[in-house]
Amino acid sequence: GTAVSLRPDVGHTGHSPSTLSVADLRGARAPGPGGTTVRRVLTAQSATVRLSSGQAVDAWTYNGQAPGPAIVATQGDLIEVTLRNKDIEDGVTLHWHGYDVACGEDGVPGLTQPVVTPGEEFRYRFRADQLGTYWYHTHQASHIGVRKGLYGTLVVHPRVRQERQLDLTLPLHTFGDTLVVADQDGHTDHTAEAGTPVRLRLINTDPDPHRLTLSGTPFRVTAVDGRDLNHPGEISEVGLRLPAGGRYDVEFTMPHSPVVLVADDVVLRIAPDRAAARPEAAPDTAGWPELDLLHYGEPAPAAFDARKADRHFTLVLDRGVAVVDGRPAYAHTVNGRAHPSIPDQLVAEGDLVTFTVVNRSLDTHPWHLHGHPVLVLSRDGVPAAGSPLWVDTFDVRPGQVWTVAFRATNPGIWMNHCHNLPHAHEGMMLRLAYT
Ligand code: C2O
Ligand code: CU
Repeated sequence: GTAVSLRPDVGHTGHSPSTLSVADLRGARAPGPGGTTVRRVLTAQSATVRLSSGQAVDAWTYNGQAPGPAIVATQGDLIEVTLRNKDIEDGVTLHWHGYDVACGEDGVPGLTQPVVTPGEEFRYRFRADQLGTYWYHTHQASHIGVRKGLYGTLVVHPRVRQERQLDLTLPLHTFGDTLVVADQDGHTDHTAEAGTPVRLRLINTDPDPHRLTLSGTPFRVTAVDGRDLNHPGEISEVGLRLPAGGRYDVEFTMPHSPVVLVADDVVLRIAPDRAAARPEAAPDTAGWPELDLLHYGEPAPAAFDARKADRHFTLVLDRGVAVVDGRPAYAHTVNGRAHPSIPDQLVAEGDLVTFTVVNRSLDTHPWHLHGHPVLVLSRDGVPAAGSPLWVDTFDVRPGQVWTVAFRATNPGIWMNHCHNLPHAHEGMMLRLAYT
């Protein structure tokens, strides 16, 4: 492998310090008490995929389908996925977006594992300890691979599940010019008996944000990036902006009339019975104000005192001339540089880390840290005032300044990057390394 060695003072895994590498930091090998093993084989292969619109597209897939197989587990299960590569010449990996796996399972080629080339395989194992809505995708040439179809959903349920619930996982993905919002089977119309609890798990797999509205019922955003919000209130006639890479769980009780989800201009309907499944035109929700998640839900005691941070970093995002592949080029930059010449952020295990992201460019940058959820502290100097907001991706719009915090509890070397994957490819990424 090409994994980078950690500094020798990370010795707690019992390896001899001189041979310890990030690739040796592996996940659990057995399920937790009462759990089982969810075993899957994902074979990366090119295939022709038929979209719900009927259109056929040349895709890169896991098991011939895009999205790839849905991975569904129960808390405490062991997830064991064998990745094989049939014919994707660029190579593939699996990155568990938002899931805080051990570093050696994180799927970053050349850092946590060698890239999986045609004919090869790699086995991932980790415990499904975190509940909620996540996704997986290749991290090799991901600006091409994800767009072409190398992604899928990961959902972890609690041990005790609500009966009689419509629970839909809905990745939003753009193939060519077509935004697809459909469940695993490609369905865009659903039924749920009136009075039934409904949960929609919305996942943005695209490089840009999507605007979502839900009409026909009041609803709650109950989880963001897989993590439950504290007492989210009932809302209606608001738009939600879902950042690239981000997830919202939306819940409501099915009314006696249809509920319409609009994502940009794509419509998905949920009706109380089949006859009502195709009503008139979608409602005009364009003028609805946007929900501000920093002021939604109720505050809860802080996980830590952010004024006591052990480390603080500032990342200034911009666009300008930087050295890319040894030559000056116009690029998306962090602190005036592009990957790989952006210095690593160094932390020690146990540190409380804060970082501020300043966007001086004219583009939105969905900022994503691997391996750790971050707590949003403030935006533009205004403290977050709603439910504690733990995210793995936050949308830093032009001119905005976000400050977030996390506890360094997952040793390794982690990518910290813009999840507009073409931006990341141009150099808007750096590494956060435990010393
Ligand atoms: Cu979903 Cu490094 O990203
Ligand atoms: Cu960006």
